[in-house]
Amino acid sequence: MSEPDRLPAAELPPGTVRRAGDWAVGNRGEDRYFAVSRRCRHQLADLAEGSIDADGCLVCPWHQSRYDVRTGEMVEGPKGFLGYHGPTPLYTQLVQVLGRIARLRVRRATREGTDVVLE
Ligand code: FES
Repeated sequence: MSEPDRLPAAELPPGTVRRAGDWAVGNRGEDRYFAVSRRCRHQLADLAEGSIDADGCLVCPWHQSRYDVRTGEMVEGPKGFLGYHGPTPLYTQLVQVLGRIARLRVRRATREGTDVVLE
């Protein structure tokens, strides 16, 4: 089965993230769309269920790792692990270093008419 490469833009209002096959597709506002691979580099949470913060980063729904959606790089590590949510300073730094190396895959996502197209 081929991956979807088109989404109706109406399904992606500013500040939202949606699933499109293996991709998390979002709108950072002002038609700034993005598409990144869906699995968090920390513990594989589905980033299509994440959120977009005030800096335009994609935030993981499980432990709030933050990603630069232009590069796929983890710019802030997780706040916890497994079922624990809280400070883990050294662990957070270690995962962040790994997340900078093993980046999310990135696809270009642009608006074409009424659709968002993944290239
Ligand atoms: S699974 Fe994403 S931060 Fe833990």
